[in-house]
Amino acid sequence: MTSSSLRKVVIPAAGLGTRFLPATKAVPKEMLPIVDTPTLQYIVEEAVSAGVKDVIIINGRYKASIEDHFDVSYELEHTLSERGKTKDVEALKKISSMANLMSVRQKHPLGLGHAVLCAKHLVGNEPFGVMLGDDMIDAEDPGILQLWRAYQKHGKGVIALMEVPPSETHLYGIAAGEMLDERTMKITKIVEKPKTNPPSNFAVIGRYLLPPSIFGHLEKTERGVGGEIQLTDALAKLMETEGLLGYRFTGTRHDAGDKVGYLKANLAFALKRPELKSGLMPYLREVVAKEDGKK
Ligand code: UTP
Repeated sequence: MTSSSLRKVVIPAAGLGTRFLPATKAVPKEMLPIVDTPTLQYIVEEAVSAGVKDVIIINGRYKASIEDHFDVSYELEHTLSERGKTKDVEALKKISSMANLMSVRQKHPLGLGHAVLCAKHLVGNEPFGVMLGDDMIDAEDPGILQLWRAYQKHGKGVIALMEVPPSETHLYGIAAGEMLDERTMKITKIVEKPKTNPPSNFAVIGRYLLPPSIFGHLEKTERGVGGEIQLTDALAKLMETEGLLGYRFTGTRHDAGDKVGYLKANLAFALKRPELKSGLMPYLREVVAKEDGKK
C-alpha cells in the first residue's frame, strides 16, 4: 500500500459514565480533567499529532460542553486579552483551531459498536481510526499512528493490544493468535470480557484502525454482552472475512474511565510538570509514610 495520512478518526464519548456518578450527572466523563485538561483533549491531540484532519465525536447527553470546549470562545478570549493574559489566549485559540471537529448524536447508549456505527455517514468509504474517549495513550509516537502504519503495511484492520495480568482478563476484550513479529499478531480469536478460560492475556485497548467494511458487520451485530451492541462482535466477523491484526503499541496507557486509572493518570501527568511536582512529592512521601506507619 502507498503511504498517506490517516484522515478520519471517530471518538465515542456518549456512554453514561456510571462509574463516575455523580460527577458525570451533567458532565460527560470524557470532559473530566486530567490535571487541567479534559481527557478528550489529550485524545484529540493524539489524533492531530498523527496528522488527522477530521475528528468525529459521538456525543450523548450534555454534548454542549464538548462542542463548546473545542469551539471559539470570543468573550473569554476578549476578557483575557484585556487582562494581558496573552499566553492563555494563545492556548485557547490552539484548542479551537486544532482539527475539523464534527459531532454525531448517539440517541441511546446502546454500546460501543452502535456508537461507531453512528459515524458511518461521516466516515464514508475509507479506513478510519476509533479512539475511545476515556482511554489515554501517553507516547512519543502517537498510539493511533502506530496502528495506521501497521494498517498500511498489511492492508488489514488493526487493534491495539496490551498484556494484562490473568486476574484482569475478565475486564477486557481479549485477543489471541499468532505473532507475525515482535509487535504484530494475526488474530484468530477475540472475545468480549471472558468470565472463564480467556484465550490469552492480550487485552484490546481503546485504539482501532478499521476498514469501512466494519460498518456492514456492525449493522448485522445483535446485542451481546451487557445487552449492548459490541464492537468486539463485529471485529470477530471482520477477522473471519478479511482478517484482523493486533498491535502491541509502545507507550503508557491510562484508563481514565476507571477511578483508580483516572487518579493514576492525574498523578502521572502532574508529576511530569516541574511546577506541580515540587509541591506534590513532599505530600506523596508524607502520605506513604503515614500509611506505612499504620501497618
Ligand atoms: P465505557 O463502557 O467505558 O463507557 O465505554 P461507559 O458505558 O460510559 O462507562 P461506565 O461503565 O458507565 O462508567 C468506552 C467508551 O465508549 C463510549 C464511552 O463514552 C467511552 O468513551 N460509549 C460507550 C459510547 O459512546 N456509547 C455507548 O453506547 C457506550
